[in-house]
Amino acid sequence: MPVPPVSKRHDKMILTQPQLEQSTNVEPIRKICCIGAGYVGGPTMAMIAKQCPDIEVKVVDINADRIAQWNSDELPVYEPGLDEVVSESRGRNLHFSTDVDQAIADAQMIFISVNTPTKHFGVGAGRAANLEFIEKCARKIAEVAQGHKIVVEKSTLPVRTAEAVKAILAGASSGATFDVLSNPEFLAEGTAVEDLVAPDRVLIGGESKAAVDALVDVYAHWVPREKLLTTNLWSSELSKLTANAFLAQRVSSINSISALCEATEADVDEVAMAIGMDSRIGPKFLKSSVGFGGSCFQKDILNLVYLCEYFGLPEVAEYWEQVVKMNDYQKTRFVRRIVRTLFNTVSDKKIGIWGFAFKKDTNDTRESAAIYICRDLLHERAKISIYDPRVDAEQIRRDLADVMRNGDSELSAASEKLLNENVEIVTDIHEASKDAHGIAVLTEWDEFKDADFERIHNEMKKPAFIFDGRNILKNLPLADIGFIYQGIGFSR
Ligand code: UDX
Ligand code: ADP
Repeated sequence: MPVPPVSKRHDKMILTQPQLEQSTNVEPIRKICCIGAGYVGGPTMAMIAKQCPDIEVKVVDINADRIAQWNSDELPVYEPGLDEVVSESRGRNLHFSTDVDQAIADAQMIFISVNTPTKHFGVGAGRAANLEFIEKCARKIAEVAQGHKIVVEKSTLPVRTAEAVKAILAGASSGATFDVLSNPEFLAEGTAVEDLVAPDRVLIGGESKAAVDALVDVYAHWVPREKLLTTNLWSSELSKLTANAFLAQRVSSINSISALCEATEADVDEVAMAIGMDSRIGPKFLKSSVGFGGSCFQKDILNLVYLCEYFGLPEVAEYWEQVVKMNDYQKTRFVRRIVRTLFNTVSDKKIGIWGFAFKKDTNDTRESAAIYICRDLLHERAKISIYDPRVDAEQIRRDLADVMRNGDSELSAASEKLLNENVEIVTDIHEASKDAHGIAVLTEWDEFKDADFERIHNEMKKPAFIFDGRNILKNLPLADIGFIYQGIGFSR
């Protein structure tokens, strides 16, 4: 078997590209800037600043409110442990600012960490990634930069986006020169700090050996060298999409089996345990749920589907699209089951919604299953009372208004009426459950397991139903209290 070439500068475990260009010599990195202070940029840069006290890190964003929050005690992103990481370095070598131009001018290395949502208009609508924010960043860098800069794509991007970034940078009128690297982020929300401290791997794709080495040296401050993997640019870009597609596929696979379990009296958690003990399959990402959410899975799969179609691979596109379809089916199935169980109508019935975030330990609601389940319950004329320990009421209202808009982005009078009259957002679990016919558990917040179920049962309409979209209450004696309890992927 051919042995991959090994970097001379680093430990022998770092695999490097055979054809890396020996381009411009790069000074050790002392100044970094990150464009985009979101869920990825903020925590990632805070960790770099903490681990690399010799490097000045400036995080910039055009959103002044967001920057003000990063500079306050109420960070815009809720992540366990993040407050400590930020407060350790903020004001020392970690700075948050709206002065994008100055930060670009000062930095040797510029991370682009802006959002790349699914396009909602024009060619590729509903599938392709909207790259307008990336392009604007590249143009800004080309306009402001002097000398040599290393530009690092942190955002998840379609394969070969670096080509477009390079083309834009090549047009820099100042004569500045650039190396472009891909360094996708694999952190998961809710465990971002742990994932950043001890990543499974850090992936760096690039063509210039000097630039790749410069970024390897930054991470080597705390990440063991054998976890620093270097590849070509295009493999790096594609690996991120592929990792998310594989993870989402596991969730859709187990969710598809959950439907079969409900029909056959098998129990999906037992099936997951049994298959997960096979070391070839492994136990992670086999938790059946009301459907995956988050800013990445659906967007990245749709992006993969679009790429496959673009490159004339319709069979591959169709294969991956099924993962998203199965996820939609899981959400629809959950609502149908609620309606069927509540005697075929939820019209005018109160349903308590426990949890709105797309998973526990985050305040992020992007693509949360809760958004779609609430929408469908509203279409059934249910009255929903929502409680989430971390998500702002305004965010919930915005998400519901967005999902109720029609194809022309307009909110019909009927939808507006439903939003005004059938939705309440409350500040505790008891308020959400009082006088409710049913409770739908949509996020697996730990505090839900410790609720006072006797009191909740007393205060609900009877019969009192719990629909557990996360199977977190499965082992509690809810039936003894008098609840009718249904979870995902088993029947009782
Ligand atoms: C994901 C990837 O895990 C991460 O590597 C990438 O950088 C960004 O996208 P994230 O979306 O933050 O991270 O969370 P993740 O833990 O992957 O969960 C995604 C969704 O799948 C959540 O809604 C979660 O509840 C759901 N899920 C996950 C399940 O339903 N079952 C599981 O077994 C695992
Ligand atoms: P992610 O989850 O990928 O971090 P977010 O939406 O949380 O995505 O964060 C992306 C951030 O990028 C937002 O705060 C947004 O204001 C910022 N942003 C987008 N475009 C630009 C730009 N051209 N210059 C600076 N910041 C930008």
